[in-house]
Amino acid sequence: MERTFVMVKPDGVQRGLVGEIVSRFERRALKVTGMKMMWIPRELAERHYEEHRDKPFFEPLLSYITSGPVVCMVLEGENAVSVIRTMMGKTNPQDAMPGTIRADFAQATGRNLVHGSDSPESARREIKLFFNDYELHEYQKPEEDWLFES
Ligand code: RTP
Ligand code: MG
Repeated sequence: MERTFVMVKPDGVQRGLVGEIVSRFERRALKVTGMKMMWIPRELAERHYEEHRDKPFFEPLLSYITSGPVVCMVLEGENAVSVIRTMMGKTNPQDAMPGTIRADFAQATGRNLVHGSDSPESARREIKLFFNDYELHEYQKPEEDWLFES
């Protein structure tokens, strides 16, 4: 099983879309193994998005992501990283496929509701940045017997 880091960004919290977004992952039987609300300090935001440090949108991105509380999650499933990126849709919601979170609920790149790690390596790095080990939980769900061929 693969783990990935997902965040409902401040616009998702303010627009009351946390339940909608989380329920899409739950319906897909992705397992929530960590979840918390936080208001990201600027320093953590800079580290999280450090790959974009030299981009023109870095400052607006930092101010967006620190503009209100977010909901952070660790989700687990087969190929969870790419499955969740597909469910999120393209970075610019106007290019995203209908049925994806960004296409169904957003209109602008700078207000695109949700973050998901873009590779297993990014996932490991981001999970470490946002979660302590004691905030992550291993447990069994009865439905797991029905998700895969044995
Ligand atoms: P994320 O990291 O938030 O999951 O989004 P992503 O992988 O789809 O996109 P990425 O290239 O990593 O960009 C991170 C976030 O920066 C904002 N952005 N603005 N104005 C622009 O051209 C621009 N490009 C990116 C978006 O909020 C994007 O999600
Ligand atoms: Mg990204």
